[in-house]
Amino acid sequence: MKEKIEKILLKDVEIKKRVKELGEEISKDYKNTLPHLICILKGASIFHSDLIRNITIPLTIDYLSVSSYNGGTQYTGRVHLVKDLDNPIKGRDVIIVEDIIDTGHTIDYLFKLFDLRKPKSIKLCSLLSKPSRREIDVKIDYLGFEIPDAFVVGYGLDYDERYRNFPNIGILSLEED
Ligand code: IMP
Ligand code: MG
Repeated sequence: MKEKIEKILLKDVEIKKRVKELGEEISKDYKNTLPHLICILKGASIFHSDLIRNITIPLTIDYLSVSSYNGGTQYTGRVHLVKDLDNPIKGRDVIIVEDIIDTGHTIDYLFKLFDLRKPKSIKLCSLLSKPSRREIDVKIDYLGFEIPDAFVVGYGLDYDERYRNFPNIGILSLEED
């Protein structure tokens, strides 16, 4: 199997502009609170680090790692907790920072997991969403971009752990060789 980036969907400058807008929106909405921005590793790592630097109010962060794809492009039906949070979220205003909402299974698992820990509030900030692929209804409070049903890489998103360092977001095509 040979893969290549077939088309650039979002350029780095476009992403940067939108991330700045999301940061400004969150800064306004969470004024006088101390939001806790949870990064879902590894896909959201770049988005999260850019986003928090565009938020102008005090905040705290944490990291959680889940895996659901096992390296391929298709959902395997299982969400697996690889690394839990370091700190409790009881009573906190949590913002989950995700790279992409596809079928919705991963975020559904995370909402259920976090709910049990009794945060004061939970909101979702996702860079990307593929609404046409949804299997579970998901409310995205802060969304970067809606994208079509295609497998994308770059700006943190991977194919088999590669392409995370590609600064733009591109559509990956797979070809038999
Ligand atoms: P969901 O559980 O189907 O919503 O999938 C969410 C997770 O699958 C994301 O956090 C990504 O890690 C991964 N994912 C879904 N679509 C893509 C894609 O187009 N490129 C790379 N990763 C993806
Ligand atoms: Mg992910």
